[in-house]
Order: sequence, then C-alpha cells, then structure tokens
Amino acid sequence: MVRDIEDATDAPPKHRVSKSPALSFPLNYLRIVYEFAVTVVCLPFHFLYFAVLPKKRWRRSWTLLEAALMPAVRRIMGAFDRCGFKVSGRNTFAEPNATWLKLRYGARFEWVEPLEQGLMSGVVRDSMTERTRVGLFSWSRQAGGGQLSRQDGDLVGVHLHGGAYTHNSAHPKSSSSAIPKKLFQKCARFSTMYMPEYRLLPDYPFSAALQDAAAAYVALVRRGVPGHKIVLIGDSSGGHLALALTRWIRDTIASEEGHSGEKAKRLEHPAGLVLFSPWADPSHSFLSHTADDYIPRTNDCDYLFEVGKFRLHLVSSLLGSHPDEFVESPYMSPGRAGQPQGIFSGHPPCFVHYGTGERCQAEGERLVENLRRDGVRVEEVVTVDTPHDPLLLEMVWNKKQIGRIWDGALNFLQTL
Ligand SMILES: *[C@@H]1O[C@H](CO)[C@@H](O)[C@H](O)[C@H]1NC(C)=O
Repeated sequence: MVRDIEDATDAPPKHRVSKSPALSFPLNYLRIVYEFAVTVVCLPFHFLYFAVLPKKRWRRSWTLLEAALMPAVRRIMGAFDRCGFKVSGRNTFAEPNATWLKLRYGARFEWVEPLEQGLMSGVVRDSMTERTRVGLFSWSRQAGGGQLSRQDGDLVGVHLHGGAYTHNSAHPKSSSSAIPKKLFQKCARFSTMYMPEYRLLPDYPFSAALQDAAAAYVALVRRGVPGHKIVLIGDSSGGHLALALTRWIRDTIASEEGHSGEKAKRLEHPAGLVLFSPWADPSHSFLSHTADDYIPRTNDCDYLFEVGKFRLHLVSSLLGSHPDEFVESPYMSPGRAGQPQGIFSGHPPCFVHYGTGERCQAEGERLVENLRRDGVRVEEVVTVDTPHDPLLLEMVWNKKQIGRIWDGALNFLQTL
C-alpha cells in the first residue's frame, strides 16, 4: 500500500512519513555520477597516501587494502542513500524465473501464504499494512525440497537479510545472500536454508517486514518443521528483524496460552539466533534530537552512512503508524540502555558478533548485556577494528577475523 504523504488534514496520517531528505531526479543521477567519479580518482591516491603514511589509516590495525578501500566503500554507500537509490534491491512482489534460479544459483523459489488472520496479533497488526503472500528463496540438500528428514541434528536456517530495511534482497543474486550461502555450505547441520523476501522501506514500515518474516516462519511450522529445529539468522537490520520475530513468537505463544491450550500448540520457539552486526538500537538519538543536533554513533571509521536527517528519516519511516515512543519498545530497540529487566525472558540461545570499528558496536554490547542479564545463553565474538557486517566484505577483509566470525557461528550451531 502506498502512503499518501500529500494528504495533510487535521486527522493525523496513519503512516506519518517525513519527506525523504534524498535528492530527487535529476540531481540524484548527477550526484551519483559525481560520487563514483570522485571515488575512482581518490582510490589510487588513498593507496599511495596510506602506504606512505600508515599512521594515517583510520584504524592502525588495518592493512593497506582495507585502509584504502574503506573511504571508497563509505563514499559509494553514502551516495546511494543521499540519492535515494536501493543497493542490490528487487521488487519483492515479482516472481523470479525458476529455471534460471535453479541453473544459475541452485536455488528454489515458492510463495507462502500471508500470515493467517488468527495470528495477526501484537505489533504485526497494522491497519495500513495489507497481508500479502511472501516470496521464499531456499537452498536445500534434499532433492525433495522443504521436507525435513527424521535424521538427528537436521536444522533449518531462516536468513533475514540486512540493509537498513531499505537495501538488498533475499534473492541469491543479492550481495547480502553471500551470508546464508556460506553458512549453508559450511554447516552440514542445515538441511535447508530459507530466505524470506520481506517488504522494505520506504513503502512498507516495520510491521510489514515483521509480518512477512512471521508468515515465513509460520509456513515452515505448518509444513511440519518443528520450531526447535529452526535457526533464525540475520545480519544488520536482518538481526533486528530476527530479534523482533523471536519476540513476536514468544508473545504470541504467551497470549494464546491465555486463551486456549489448543491454539498454543500452533507455534514454537526457534532453536536459536545467529546475529551478525545486529542493528539493535534504532532509538539512538531519535526522540530527543533533531537533525541539527543528532549525536552520531561512535566509530566514525565505519563505512555506514551516519547523517542526522537521514537517520531520523529512516527510523521514522520504520516506525510507520506506530507512535514515536514505540521506538523505545524492546521490539524496536532491544539493545537500548535501560531496557527493563526480563525483556528477554524465555528467549533461545544467541550468537552475537560485532566489531570495535563499527557504528553498531555499542548497541551490540548492550544487546549482549541485556540478553545475559535475563539469563539467555549468549556466545559472543568481538573482532577488533572491523567495520559493520564484515562478512559482506569477505573478499577484501582480513581472513583471520572473517574466520573467527564463521568459526564462532559454527561452534554455536553445534551446541543447538
Ligand atoms: C527463464 O530462464 C530460462 C533460462 O535462462 C529461459 O530459457 C526462459 O526463457 C526464461 N523464462 C521466462 C519466462 O523468462
């Protein structure tokens, strides 16, 4: 559903959305050409500069390649946001060519039913968000597809991609699909890896993404995959979504148990969560700040785009029809300081990775703190000076650090 932002009447608009600060046509095209040109010109300069003056690297531990590429990655990522272009995106309602998908990527695609009416409870209920069927990509080891064998230790992965709820896609061609692909290859315990194509900003706020992720989870449970065999995996905003989905599952089970014991059997908690650089605190600087006095998150060596008016616009579009205060809820900001005790009670074990060179470091630390305080088993891997979501930079990043992240996740998966 497309929101009508021109419709300014006395009645508050349901999905209030501030005007996007991104450049519009044709300035956005001119700007992106300009940014690419500057990047190409600067790249050799940065190689030379950081080779001659290693002390000037944004982090002293970075290799020359890492140091020289980071300004380029940052400029390009920022350019996409400034110009309002999506990176690696696709129409979430389009059906991909199944033959090509199989031939080129060895993957499958199917539609799953919209989240059933009876489960439209809690935060997924949103009068502005229509229920839709959800596209589900998958890799499977079995010829038959989604059927889970009786064999012990078979896990099913559900990967929720990152990209600030704006960029990327669940399609295997998307750069963010490198993560579920690698994890599926590396961990033989996964019989199948699913990737739900959830709806994105700016047209579809948080409730839509959560509703779609929930629809995919429920579809798997309905076809006989037990919840305790499902591992939710998410990087960046996908980690945020995985945490919200786990919370929704917990709250839905709790509310159904209150009504009838029969219905409660319909849902089951997942086995565990694997979170890479999770975005755990969208409330940062949101309520008390305007774009002019926005307090950037720490680690300005990171490539993540951190400009006040863009961040505030992103979070307010994510909130959609929810009131501003909803940003403080554990659904929105589980890694917020001062979250009350017990918000994670009943949560499955979690693997959490973050780096000390990324914007999401502080919220990763607090997320782990909040989880542990509530008695959740957490396996934590912290890598020194790595930027946000380094698994997406696997080609160029320090092999040892990348290896530590994978090993941490694999060891964790063995304990489930
Ligand atoms: C799907 O892809 C295959 C292989 O590339 C191609 O031969 C076929 O025409 C495509 N089908 C459609 C409907 O586009």
